[in-house]
Amino acid sequence: MTSLNAESLRKQLAGKMIGHRLYYYDEIGSTNDEAFRLGEEGAPEGTVLIAESQTSGKGRMQRVWYSPAGANIYTSMILRPLAGRMQATQIPIAAGVAAAETLNEFCPGKAWIKWPNDVLIGGKKVCGILAQMKMSGQAVDFVVVGIGVNVNLTREQFPQDIQEIATALAIEAGREISRPELIIRLYENMTKWYRELIQNGFASVRERWLNRSEMIDKTVSIVFHNEAVSGKAVGLDEDGSLILLTANNQKMSVSAGDATILKEVNTYAAGN
Ligand code: BTN
Repeated sequence: MTSLNAESLRKQLAGKMIGHRLYYYDEIGSTNDEAFRLGEEGAPEGTVLIAESQTSGKGRMQRVWYSPAGANIYTSMILRPLAGRMQATQIPIAAGVAAAETLNEFCPGKAWIKWPNDVLIGGKKVCGILAQMKMSGQAVDFVVVGIGVNVNLTREQFPQDIQEIATALAIEAGREISRPELIIRLYENMTKWYRELIQNGFASVRERWLNRSEMIDKTVSIVFHNEAVSGKAVGLDEDGSLILLTANNQKMSVSAGDATILKEVNTYAAGN
């Protein structure tokens, strides 16, 4: 198994926008928590953190992110967008595009985005993104983008309760994946889509997200704090919210929650 070598990664990332400063940890609580701390200390844009394992890996909606050693990627990056809060809310969408394109390079034609920014292969989650923002008054101080990718885990190595819903890149690609190669491509694609967002705005990020999303034009249910809304997913709002068309033809923008594609129900009785 190819192990992570911080020195070699540093050499390959020297002078790059994302990755020019790299903090490496054999074990840490959460790379996002530490990135937040470093951000508050003034760490520059493009600083990245990589851990071989996390003891308190954090997922969206206060979940735990399974973070064993030796097989996966756990990374966080610090970004300092200047254009304000709206642009900062678009960064996780750009990150979803970057992650999906990266994984698609290793599993051509198979990686899809599930709103807001999970990456799925074969309908199972292979990558999750947790973005956290620090404001200073009305200005955005920094954004931490944390990305976890299941890379070389075998099916049996997943905890029982997620075996049906999670997968790893190696399982889907049918070969062991080089984690350093994947990390470099992830940062390169993240740089590309972050630059696109900063320089040209949200339009092409959104377009690429829509092309890579498996939800658009499907009937979906979004659950947030035990409340569910459903409708046809018809677009992505400026702030990354999913736009639903509800049963009474109302447009509704949903900003947080867990999305599931609902199976189309055949409302015709047999014989009609
Ligand atoms: C999710 O899909 O729920 C988001 C998962 C995000 C996991 C990554 S692993 C690196 C970074 N550090 C964390 O504690 N979480 C993110």
